[in-house]
Amino acid sequence: MDKKWWQTGIIYQVYPRSFQDSNGDGVGDLKGILQRLDYLQWLGINALWLSPVYPSPMADFGYDISDYTGIHPLFGDMADFDNLLEAVHKRGMKLLLDLVPNHTSDQHPWFVESRSSRDNPKRDWYIWHDPLPDGGVPNNWLSMFGGNAWEWDHTTQQYYYHAFLREQPDLNWRNPEVQQAMFDVMRFWLKKGVDGFRVDVMWHMIKDAQFRNNPPDPNYEPHMSTYSQLLPVYSTDQPEVHELVHKMRSVMEEIDDERVMIGEIYLPIHQLVTYYGVDNNGAHLPFNFQLLTLPWQALQISTAIDQYEGALPVNGWPNWVLSNHDQHRIASRVGVQQARVAAMLLLTLRGTPTIYYGDEIAMRNVAIPFDEVVDPQGLNMPDKNLSRDPSRTPMQWDNSKNAGFTDGKPWLRLSKISHRANVEMQQQDPYSMLTLHKRLISLRTNEPALDAGSYVPVYADNQMLAYMREAEGADSFLIVLNLTHWPCYFRPPHFSFSGKVEIATIPESEGIYLTDTISLDGDEGLVIRLEK
Ligand code: GLC
Repeated sequence: MDKKWWQTGIIYQVYPRSFQDSNGDGVGDLKGILQRLDYLQWLGINALWLSPVYPSPMADFGYDISDYTGIHPLFGDMADFDNLLEAVHKRGMKLLLDLVPNHTSDQHPWFVESRSSRDNPKRDWYIWHDPLPDGGVPNNWLSMFGGNAWEWDHTTQQYYYHAFLREQPDLNWRNPEVQQAMFDVMRFWLKKGVDGFRVDVMWHMIKDAQFRNNPPDPNYEPHMSTYSQLLPVYSTDQPEVHELVHKMRSVMEEIDDERVMIGEIYLPIHQLVTYYGVDNNGAHLPFNFQLLTLPWQALQISTAIDQYEGALPVNGWPNWVLSNHDQHRIASRVGVQQARVAAMLLLTLRGTPTIYYGDEIAMRNVAIPFDEVVDPQGLNMPDKNLSRDPSRTPMQWDNSKNAGFTDGKPWLRLSKISHRANVEMQQQDPYSMLTLHKRLISLRTNEPALDAGSYVPVYADNQMLAYMREAEGADSFLIVLNLTHWPCYFRPPHFSFSGKVEIATIPESEGIYLTDTISLDGDEGLVIRLEK
């Protein structure tokens, strides 16, 4: 049971623009995060992951980086970063950065050089391609943000490839110089003491050497993003990516064996688990997004948990995610009451949980009027409702002006209910989502069965799922979750049990002793400490 911090700990994603503003410019910053560390420590999380804080023209809100080893003045400077890192470490917590190796900003000096002439030494650092004989784009690959993925460069008369915005040209990872340059970026932050990286779009990093056309996706429907028209079988998840991931892992281990590499990877389970690498020499935690992508249906979720547990490589450590800055918030997907059940699921499954800022107070997506939309994904496909702004709104701290987020004009509007849905109020409310989170986190942290014990499936049907968590020499827990709004009964099919409800999404059930048959309210979830 000798586990690393990233196996037993809980990760918290901070979207820096929206967490806490310290200087009144309406955009969150590093000093703001520093001010809120007491809160994160109180909550009991172990590591913060910051979405990008590097210099960037902000075409994609920081995921278009123009300097990998600097800090954007909007967020502060390197001294602010060093202070934050030190303060995080002083509290016994860890700090993870977002690493975006697949693409740079078109303003990055590497790209400026690369596009300056065909014989520039950095030409081959990006993916340049001649037009087809008729002048058309080299192949049919699409951009995730709408339209095709090739941009014509008039000066040098070639196209360059961009999986995202045209302001985000893809690096050519087949070029060893690119690899070394990015490994040096990693070393820069690791030497500073950063505890790891969340690696952006890891499965995109290398593309088919022949640039073959992607085939149509037979399951495409018109309401979907235009990107989903094709199956990206040649533009993503190429076999060569694993060698790159392995090399990155080796860089992670140059100083010590305590840093973590998390990969952002949207792939079906059996492809996802290959990113652990041969003998776990790849990513420590390939992000598992099943709870983000599956319908909220007990049988489907329970089956997916088993498929994942079954597919994990020996010693591959699981992880779970409910929301992030690209997806709808969990409270908007399943409703505020059911989000409590989701929190219980996230915090009682086997594997590292990642909590998206604000989910702990059940923040919902905020409606952003059409003329206030700033997310390029929303702007480029305006008829499809794909803007990610609604899940990136400022954190709701208290019931003061702008919910305590800023003294200025917030860069994105706040929820109109922030005066009654905020941290300060929920800290005092024994029935709040925040209190539920704090208690679940504390139980998980203190109970060996919950933080690193085994997962034992018990039962699932159309309404509910049940599983046990067990560890040798420690108390076992039975977790029973009703994923619907109406009541149901549960009787374990193959054994009888007795135990006490330790935590319930409806706290009135706590402390009750249960044997054999349980009746659950709608949206009710129970963590039951089993009697030996
Ligand atoms: C990742 C990020 C997303 C960004 C994209 C391009 O998916 O999470 O926010 O837009 O990569 O960098």
